[in-house]
Amino acid sequence: MQYREFGRTGWKVSEIGYGMWGMAGWTGSDDKESERSLDLAVELGCNFFDTAWAYGNGKSERLLGDLVRRHAGKKLYIATKIPPKNSIWPSKRGFILDECFPPDHIIEYTEKSLKNLGVETIDLIQFHVWEDSWATDERWGRTMEDLKKAGKIRAVGISVNRWEPDNSLETLQTGRIDSVQVIYNIFDQAPEDHLFPLCKKLNIGVIARVPFDEGTLTGKFTRHTVFPKDDWRSTYFVPENLTASVEHADRLKPLVPKGMTLTDMALRFILSNDIVSTTIPGMRKETHVRANIVTGDGTKLPPNLLAELKKHRWDRTPTEWSQ
Ligand SMILES: NC(=O)c1ccc[n+]([C@@H]2O[C@H](COP(=O)([O-])OP(=O)(O)OC[C@H]3O[C@@H](n4cnc5c(N)ncnc54)[C@H](OP(=O)(O)O)[C@@H]3O)[C@@H](O)[C@H]2O)c1
Repeated sequence: MQYREFGRTGWKVSEIGYGMWGMAGWTGSDDKESERSLDLAVELGCNFFDTAWAYGNGKSERLLGDLVRRHAGKKLYIATKIPPKNSIWPSKRGFILDECFPPDHIIEYTEKSLKNLGVETIDLIQFHVWEDSWATDERWGRTMEDLKKAGKIRAVGISVNRWEPDNSLETLQTGRIDSVQVIYNIFDQAPEDHLFPLCKKLNIGVIARVPFDEGTLTGKFTRHTVFPKDDWRSTYFVPENLTASVEHADRLKPLVPKGMTLTDMALRFILSNDIVSTTIPGMRKETHVRANIVTGDGTKLPPNLLAELKKHRWDRTPTEWSQ
């Protein structure tokens, strides 16, 4: 496993981090299998774990706390997120800070996350939605500064809304943000336009999330894939989205080099960009952990393939189903 600088924090994080949503919120999760997968990831050098209070109302955080205690001799970086007070994902233009992150709510949920995790300090606390219009409201920054001084958090991040990478640019310029978490993958290349150059200039850590486009880029889905009704993917992969996603993924299959898989190519595409500090595939199975972690070996995709993949950029705009 190779490690990269996490912006200005001084942390060295594994190129392959760990996304912990699925194991606490998607159907088909098995806690024992998730625990074995997490343990394996640590053994293979993964040291960055992304969770959120909202992933199973603290369940994912509790799984992470247990993991940290099982591997007490190793430094594992904990990244979690504060849910918006109004419980609406994503935030919408016009929402005010008081609806989502008033100071008392930031403090309350930091305390809840500390308790779920069973730790004294959270390495990275992130806002789980964001509106750039909140940039100039001093209250969130002051609250985070107080939490840092109290030793409860070490760094602050924004998790930007799906397909809105630019809805954070003014906030990053305040100097109060240490990292951004953004959807970046073979389809979603828009963060390269404005967000990544700004992160580079300001030395802000970059977490590339949803590396497989919620599963499309694993190549496993067909137009007929059906998700259980109580799985959020049944509301996200509506026919309009599923059909288009499968078509876009199918076009990539002939480009996969010999000896590689589509998932390898998807992760290596992301890691071929030096601005990315870590990418966090969602994983619940040991086979997936093994397959993904080998791609954190520092081998980038060749320039001709990267140039070809640039053509598969797919710009999408938020819709009523995109969440
Ligand atoms: N708003 C936000 O802040 C936000 C939103 C979305 C996601 N996130 C974060 O980003 C993380 C990653 O996104 P995601 O989990 O939504 O989607 P993703 O990483 O794009 O895709 C996850 C899916 O890929 C499958 N998978 C993983 N490795 C595989 C492999 N080698 N071969 C075949 N299939 C493989 C997983 O299966 P198994 O689960 O069965 O292993 C799961 O079904 C989340 O876990 C979460 O931490 C944050």
